[in-house]
Amino acid sequence: MSPTPEARPGVVYPNFEKPLLVYVNVPFCNSKCHFCDWVAEVPVADLRLRPETPARRRYMEALVAQIVAQAPMLKSRGHQPVIMYWGGGTASILTPAEMTAVLTALGEHLDLSGLGEVTIEGSPESMTLEKLTLLRSFGFNRVSLGVQSFDPARLRQIGRVHDGEQAKEAVRTARRAGFTNINIDLIVGFPDQPLDEVEATVRTALTLPVNHFSVYPYRSTPGTSLRRRVNRGTLELDLENQFQAYGRARDLLQEAGHPEYAMSYFGYPRCASDEAYYRLQTDWIGFGSGANSLIDQSFCVNTRGRLHQYNQHPEQFDSVVPAASHPLLMHFVSQALTTAEGLAEGDLARRTGMSLEQLYQVPVVRSYLDRMADFGEVRREPERLWIRREDISRVYVALNWVGPPDAETGPRPVAVSG
Ligand SMILES: C[S@@+](CC[C@H](N)C(=O)[O-])C[C@H]1O[C@@H](n2cnc3c(N)ncnc32)[C@H](O)[C@@H]1O
Ligand code: SF4
Repeated sequence: MSPTPEARPGVVYPNFEKPLLVYVNVPFCNSKCHFCDWVAEVPVADLRLRPETPARRRYMEALVAQIVAQAPMLKSRGHQPVIMYWGGGTASILTPAEMTAVLTALGEHLDLSGLGEVTIEGSPESMTLEKLTLLRSFGFNRVSLGVQSFDPARLRQIGRVHDGEQAKEAVRTARRAGFTNINIDLIVGFPDQPLDEVEATVRTALTLPVNHFSVYPYRSTPGTSLRRRVNRGTLELDLENQFQAYGRARDLLQEAGHPEYAMSYFGYPRCASDEAYYRLQTDWIGFGSGANSLIDQSFCVNTRGRLHQYNQHPEQFDSVVPAASHPLLMHFVSQALTTAEGLAEGDLARRTGMSLEQLYQVPVVRSYLDRMADFGEVRREPERLWIRREDISRVYVALNWVGPPDAETGPRPVAVSG
């Protein structure tokens, strides 16, 4: 076996005082995949709105209206965009005209000259050469593609509308459009999934011209149709099988020279948007229904699935709470500890106003850290909170299973993904 490759460092931003991550949420998809917990609360009729429908047209106008209303405030407070990510749902589902309208509004109302990584996330069947070429011309330089599996039976079982060939073709199309920084998402540890299927999928992924892989252990989330089958007993989940599935995928990727630099993330360059977001390295503004924002120590939420309410009042968040609110702190810790570097004192202080010492006194955080410590070594140091790199996946695969201590009352995970 070849030695484990060392993870290379992440992005260094220009020296802005207030670097900002700009996130745009597109809550539409061609299908509702049976496993997906990103859109579990979005009604299928809203998820599949076509471009010509009044509600979708209204959504695109609402996105622009939110940008026009909030960008000047960001600018006046000195926020400088350094990373942009368009996700969803499926951001690549937008038509070229819809993409152009949003990009024009962003360009007119924010200073985008300091942008480094700019990602479009999408699904294979919606990534066309025309759209990718347009995005490239607007400065997008990274593609994140949901692939999940190359196994035909698995793709059918999980409700994907594309096959493995389309996924490979989408990668080639992105290359033809000039993208060299390409991620693919895979899921491992589906109910009843044999290890040789995991291995075949990862080996196929390794034949593609991509430099980054996101490998998610399947989360059996309530509200998804695959979970209902698990509940009925027609499918079976097994924690040991998930450990093995993730471990097998990780070994294959690392042997091929793609280091694991955070839970689920392999390769280089690292994903700057996820790193910034997970480690609280920047503030972020989320445009769209279902997006959240962390601006000047306030956490602002637009609840997922409330498309029509968002359409009416896009410039108002559904809720605004201090970033130091206790259930939120637990989620910030949860996200930061997926990374090898963990949570640094300075980032925590800038984003929430708290020190690590104060964080360690918060009861819900303490019990969460105790829960994590059942599965791996959690190091509570004065300037950094982190988990040993070799323990991270064991902790997180197990936590997918048992959940955080106040999973019923805390906010949902708020990952950008990819
Ligand atoms: C917001 S989706 C965007 C990708 C794009 N819409 C697509 O599906 O092609 C981000 C990723 O989350 C992952 N994901 C969604 N639900 C999951 C679950 N229940 N367990 C593990 N990963 C999941 C999938 O890998 C998916 O590609
Ligand atoms: S996995 Fe992607 S395409 Fe499928 S429902 Fe989720 S966001 Fe939509």
